[in-house]
Amino acid sequence: MKIMAFVGSPRKGSNTDILIDKVIEGAKSKTDVEAEKIYLYEADIKYCNACGAHTVLKGSRDCPLGDDMAGILHRMQEADAFIFGSPNHGRTISAAMTNFIARMMPLLKMHVEKDESGKIIHAEARPLTRGKKAVMVVSQGDPWPSSSALVVKIIDDNMKDFQMKKVGEVFSMNNIERAIVKNKPDELNLAFATGVRLALS
Ligand SMILES: Cc1cc2nc3c(=O)[nH]c(=O)nc-3n(C[C@H](O)[C@H](O)[C@H](O)COP(=O)(O)O)c2cc1C
Repeated sequence: MKIMAFVGSPRKGSNTDILIDKVIEGAKSKTDVEAEKIYLYEADIKYCNACGAHTVLKGSRDCPLGDDMAGILHRMQEADAFIFGSPNHGRTISAAMTNFIARMMPLLKMHVEKDESGKIIHAEARPLTRGKKAVMVVSQGDPWPSSSALVVKIIDDNMKDFQMKKVGEVFSMNNIERAIVKNKPDELNLAFATGVRLALS
């Protein structure tokens, strides 16, 4: 099973990263796993500049930005499952995760039907990620869950748009301190169990 994990925190080895590792560990306890972890703040992933090259209207061309994203998108098509991990930054997903999701748009692949005059009469997304499994990992500082309502919704809605099969969600709060989650066995167990589910579902 090929898992690609996207770490949307600039703090390497901190809460989001630790929980992602536990999910991977849980999956590995049940099946052979080839895991690739991508630190979104370290990878060369330029800002989407909305050129629209990948859209049908511009001829469905490759993204011209020429960075790590071409390889990542290619490997995403070969992967079986994804882990999207983001800290809550200002009640939303991190900046790197926001840009990463924007740069994933070429995977949406629009299918269009035109009439004789060339006018588009039907359009639908046929994502190259359709049916692939996905888990979300969210860490926040506040002690009340509503703080991450938008974070969870954004990741959820994008999983739906990309027609992924959401397998689970790991949500952890009260994590202002770096790597504090390593002292929270219940949350580590939840992450591990989510990884088990990822492997078995
Ligand atoms: C710029 C910034 C904004 C943040 N905004 C929020 C927030 O609105 N609500 C919240 O609960 N935590 C907020 N936090 C706290 C982080 O979500 C929390 O520390 C999280 O555990 C960080 O994950 P990490 O350790 O993987 O980086 C913020 C942190 C930063 C750096």
